[in-house]
Amino acid sequence: MSAPLDNEPFVYTARAHSKVNIHLGVEEPREDGFHELASVFQSLELHDTVTLTDLGNPEVDKPRIQGLKVTGPHAQGVPEDYTNLAWTAVNRIMQYLYTTHGPKALPEVALEIHKAIPTAGGMAGGSADAAAALRLAERCYGGYYGIDSVGEPILDALGAALGSDVPFTLLGGTALGTGRGEQLTPMMARGTYHWALIASDRGLSTPQVFHKLDEMREKGRGGAPHMDTAAVSQALISGDPHRVAQHLHNDLQPAALSLRPDLRKTLEAGVAAGALAGIVSGSGPTCAFLCAGAEEAREVVSQVTVEIPGTKGVATHGPASGAVVL
Ligand code: C5P
Repeated sequence: MSAPLDNEPFVYTARAHSKVNIHLGVEEPREDGFHELASVFQSLELHDTVTLTDLGNPEVDKPRIQGLKVTGPHAQGVPEDYTNLAWTAVNRIMQYLYTTHGPKALPEVALEIHKAIPTAGGMAGGSADAAAALRLAERCYGGYYGIDSVGEPILDALGAALGSDVPFTLLGGTALGTGRGEQLTPMMARGTYHWALIASDRGLSTPQVFHKLDEMREKGRGGAPHMDTAAVSQALISGDPHRVAQHLHNDLQPAALSLRPDLRKTLEAGVAAGALAGIVSGSGPTCAFLCAGAEEAREVVSQVTVEIPGTKGVATHGPASGAVVL
């Protein structure tokens, strides 16, 4: 693989796919504050598009990210600086290559994220952008080092250090996540699953939702951990969305509903509009509705977004791929 010619901007583009948790079991907190999970992830067609532009003029010791622009329907509130996980992801690849292969003349780069995934919504949008940025930086800087890939185990490790959901958004498909969600085992899932996603105009903080669950459990509320994924796994093998719908479960849901009681109405409205079942996605507040088909999913989106003020919806399907450079 060769790097682009000097002084010639070159654009690399990647898709960053969102995810839904079909099942999310959450244990008591560990010593490090994280919770042991039994998470059945599914990647969704709904994706952000991340581009990395190689601005040319490679120099040793001077490479940097010139800037980050965020566009698209969910751009509002997304940081356009080093606090964005995608920015950090690019730097981690650069640091890894420097440490393992030594100094090299590298170009300045610019990042752009087109956000179609609701933010702070429990859809792993930030993690997916970081996963895409890891792959883009690997492709761009790898070219200068003359290497095709740093290898999936290294990408996974760099991803896990960025966030618990990053390894899954690198992998995609349908997978069981254990540990803090970063230890993945691909699962068999027949067929295509149609989802209606209803995002809220106010986000929820993931740490706050986990904390709320701990608090509720201390008071004997919030429910026991559901760590057994055998039933949902069988349902996924059957490929029958009606069966999978019976096993949608999220241990974080009582905590998310306690912080956002209004989500109950959204969950009820989705089922009334014809969804097979509805669930808060991850730490919420996005609600995910499994539907019998694409048309039913579109119908749920149009009915619920009219009925519940302050919501935006999208129909999508899974499983999709992990972050991929186009
Ligand atoms: O890993 P990530 O940065 O995405 O996690 C965000 C926060 O969510 C953590 O700081 C923690 O409060 C909570 N979390 C958790 N247990 C997990 C994953 C996340 O408590 N397994």
